[in-house]
Amino acid sequence: MKLHRITACNFLSFAGEQTFHFPDDPGLYFMQGVNEVEPRLGGNGAGKTTLWEAMFWCLYGVTSDGMKAGDICNWGASRGAWVEIAFEGDDALSLQVMRRQWSPNSWTLQDIFGNTIDLAKDSGGARLADLRLATAPFLHCVYMAQNGDMFLDLKHDAQSALFSEVMGLNRWVDLSAKASARASTQDGQTRRLEGELASIEGRLAAMGKHDPGAEAKRWQSDRAERVAALEAKYMAGVARATVLKNAWADAEARGQESLAEMGLGAEIETLEDMRREYNRAKAEASDMRYLATSAAHALERHAEALSAAEHQERCEACGQALRPDARRVAIQRARKTHDNALKADAGAQKEAKAAASRADDLLNAVLDQERRVDDGRAAMDQLEQEERAARRAYDLHERELDRLEDDAERALAEVNPYAGLEARALAEIERLSANREDCLRDLDHSRELHSLFSYWVRGFKEVRLQEIAEALGELEIEVNSCVIELGLVGWELQFSVDRESKGGNVQRGFTVRVVEPGGKAAPWGAWSGGEKQRLRLAGDMGLANLIRSRTGAEIPLEVWDEPSAGLSPQGVQDMLETLERRAIAEGRQVWVVDHTAHSFGGFSGGAVITKTAGGSMIEQHSV
Ligand SMILES: Nc1ncnc2c1ncn2[C@@H]1O[C@H](COP(=O)(O)OP(=O)(O)O)[C@@H](O)[C@H]1O
Ligand SMILES: [Mg+2]
Repeated sequence: MKLHRITACNFLSFAGEQTFHFPDDPGLYFMQGVNEVEPRLGGNGAGKTTLWEAMFWCLYGVTSDGMKAGDICNWGASRGAWVEIAFEGDDALSLQVMRRQWSPNSWTLQDIFGNTIDLAKDSGGARLADLRLATAPFLHCVYMAQNGDMFLDLKHDAQSALFSEVMGLNRWVDLSAKASARASTQDGQTRRLEGELASIEGRLAAMGKHDPGAEAKRWQSDRAERVAALEAKYMAGVARATVLKNAWADAEARGQESLAEMGLGAEIETLEDMRREYNRAKAEASDMRYLATSAAHALERHAEALSAAEHQERCEACGQALRPDARRVAIQRARKTHDNALKADAGAQKEAKAAASRADDLLNAVLDQERRVDDGRAAMDQLEQEERAARRAYDLHERELDRLEDDAERALAEVNPYAGLEARALAEIERLSANREDCLRDLDHSRELHSLFSYWVRGFKEVRLQEIAEALGELEIEVNSCVIELGLVGWELQFSVDRESKGGNVQRGFTVRVVEPGGKAAPWGAWSGGEKQRLRLAGDMGLANLIRSRTGAEIPLEVWDEPSAGLSPQGVQDMLETLERRAIAEGRQVWVVDHTAHSFGGFSGGAVITKTAGGSMIEQHSV
């Protein structure tokens, strides 16, 4: 990777466009300033720092001390500000130009074929990654900013945080946090499984107390009791049915008996005969009377006719020749017959009277008999009613018996609801036991995982500490070699790492101790002046070396902005020599920015930034 140029336009003190060309060769270069606008300030306020801030802004969108957006625009500029960095990879064809612009905002990367990538949308490119380290590492191995704190001046925890960040050790903290989250999730899972296990064991214990076999037996004996009760009732019913049936038979027998006893059958026959006889006698008597009456009447008329016909030859009634004697005889005979007829009639009348009285007697007897028959019938009806009642009672009872029989049959046909329960309970116990096994296994697994995750909560932190310790070892070597180069022979810086307290907390920060040639050791704060500035530089150089070796950062540039503050001329000399060696050895361009000029023969070239009324101007020269 090779840097070509930085072009800034309307950026802070650069009004209009200014371009800085990186020299072709590695080496130590010097940048100084001239302030034409305010000559009293000498080399201050010229725009030296501004140039490097322009590069930083182009890469990160912010200055090293946090200015952004509109803040970076030149006060006199009416248009937006922009900065370009041109650099190439392995060959000239890979030349690329990164450009950041404010108002309108854009951030792009363009190759020599004119292809442009919008970096605002795609900042993950490989080329960019080479160039653009994370901010903190960049500020400690490429651009050692003027306002930036030097590593050894930082507070312990800031040192540790910076060290952790530039070394990429924060991932162990992230991993530890992740392990902690997993551990707590796993803990929740363990609790859930413990709850599940308790519930399964509770159910198993409850199942042990409850015996479905006994319940089935209890049901069976209950039913046997019910059936026995029905049967007893039935038997009693059967006994009563016999009684009722007997009562019925009795009533029936009594009915038959009384019918025979009364002999009403014969009486009724006699009664009928008598009735016929009576009617016949009555008719006969009536016939006889009629005959007798009509004969007597006819004879009377005959005798009268004979008497009246004394002068007549022949009888008018019978036609015979009437002679006087004959007539007399006839009259006598007729009178005699008539008398006889009268007598007969009287006899007949007598006989009819007798027959009538006999018939009346018979009638009375018939009526009598009829009454007796009626009484007998009523008695029979009574008996019949009794018999019917007895039969009904018996029938009803029979039906009740049938019902009892049905009930008993139904009871016998009922299915024992507890019969299958025992088998089911056994199956349930088996199922629960299997679940319990599974649950125990899961629980074991979950506890194992939990202890594993818990272990790694500390484990990752320990790895981080180990890595820090390792890196600090390297840092110590790097820094101490710079200490010697910077002319502090016999001095040594000792770093020690964060320690984990007994309570498991990591004590952030690490300690730096300084051992001077006499062997006296003291904390960093105890030293002052030029020694301290040399040690500071050694610290920063060592850290830069470590970052480069750890991150593989390729960018062949180091910018030291005002590093000589507080150094004696010899100190400055030592520093410049060190940086020169460094530039040659590493094949880098090392830029020292200073407001005062130094008479040092090792510079490969330089630049002067001059603040004019028209803004800062860049002027470059080689030696
Ligand atoms: N937005 C700005 N527009 C114009 N000049 C600015 C702006 N911001 C700061 N400056 C001026 O830029 C000058 C250059 O500062 P700087 O680069 O830090 O000087 P030095 O050469 O000492 O490093 C300062 O004098 C400051 O007043
Ligand atoms: Mg400056």
